[in-house]
Amino acid sequence: MSTPGRSVTAKVHEDRAAGFDVNEVRQDFPILGGKVHGKSLVYFDNAATSQKPQVVIDTVHEYLSTYNSNIHRGVHGLSERATEAYEQSRKKVQRFINAAESREVIFVRGTTEAINLVAFSYGRQQIRAGDEILISAMEHHSNIVPWQILCEQTGASLRVVPINDAGELLLDEYEKLLTPRTRLVSVVYVSNALGTINPVRQLIRLAHRQGVPVVVDGAQATAHLKVDVRELDCDFFAFSGHKVFGPTGIGVLYGKAEMLESMPPYQGGGDMIKSVTFEKTVYNDLPYKFEAGTPHIAGVIGLGAAIDYLNGIGLERVGPYEHELLEYATEALSAIPGIRIIGTAREKASLISFVLDGVHAHDVGTILDREGVAIRAGHHCTMPLMRRFGVPATARVSLAFYNTREEIDVLVGALYKAIEMFG
Ligand code: ALA
Repeated sequence: MSTPGRSVTAKVHEDRAAGFDVNEVRQDFPILGGKVHGKSLVYFDNAATSQKPQVVIDTVHEYLSTYNSNIHRGVHGLSERATEAYEQSRKKVQRFINAAESREVIFVRGTTEAINLVAFSYGRQQIRAGDEILISAMEHHSNIVPWQILCEQTGASLRVVPINDAGELLLDEYEKLLTPRTRLVSVVYVSNALGTINPVRQLIRLAHRQGVPVVVDGAQATAHLKVDVRELDCDFFAFSGHKVFGPTGIGVLYGKAEMLESMPPYQGGGDMIKSVTFEKTVYNDLPYKFEAGTPHIAGVIGLGAAIDYLNGIGLERVGPYEHELLEYATEALSAIPGIRIIGTAREKASLISFVLDGVHAHDVGTILDREGVAIRAGHHCTMPLMRRFGVPATARVSLAFYNTREEIDVLVGALYKAIEMFG
């Protein structure tokens, strides 16, 4: 299958000419050569978690097998080496998102913990009864539930910006919902269920005009778009390591230094203290004030390797390739009888959610799995969004830069099998 008027071979040549050779890149990911149910793996569940390049696997292995030790505590050589690698990763993250200072980079477990940190530190300190927190109709549960808990605890209320049928946020409604009662906006950059890329820069500008700080859920953005937190001018930005080709269990909360400085700790324990007596504890400086307990050292070091890898690949080269894949897949899937794509925003990341007439999304997922194609089927932790589109679940194909048009052809063939089986 090919884009009309352009052969696959011609496209491969164009990509090579642009300096991006997908077949070469695929060699970096050992899992991509594997088989599932005897079929070559086609991994289209990148929004759930991305695969890991060999260099990330090796970096984590090297830490665990040659200098495993705790950080910021030991006087011995191993600990010094681990501390150095850990803090180097913080600097890599700082440069990756263009934060002004490395102390603005807080290591957490993932996007969910990052948002919870803001809700329960900044939120508890700043939000009062009668205040409003503004989110959008396309938020992941992790950008809904922490705010609901906060609202229950404080008497504040949650307001929701509606979206249109394409899955685009209604900007005029957003502006109307930004009122003197609004204390915080928390919005997703790229929707995990629709692929919509929100105009976060504009949303932030509008909120700031009224003095309202903004949290950006960047979980699905950082693997696809060049993120510049200073250009966005967001107050907080959250992302997960495992979605940018790093390990699971590690993520980042970026916060403007003045915001983080003013916030109370989120958890108490080791590393977040300067001194403790039974009468009073003096908290540590940023970023350690928010890093209680032994962190996920292997994860942080692995994330640093993933960022180095991504920098080597170049997000600016990946973007156009992924966009072409998205167009190719959208065209191919749209031609399948009985398919309905959920999420047709003009600005989309490489993700397609769909429902197929007469076949439940979970059955689609199961049949594709038998063909070696891994997708996600379900509500994608966005139950209110599913309700908005009147579906219980969708099948979701989420692409990464190591995916190919040939893999999309396998997907399409497998979908025809599903249709045949379900009549
Ligand atoms: N939030 C992740 C997803 O969308 C797990 O699949």
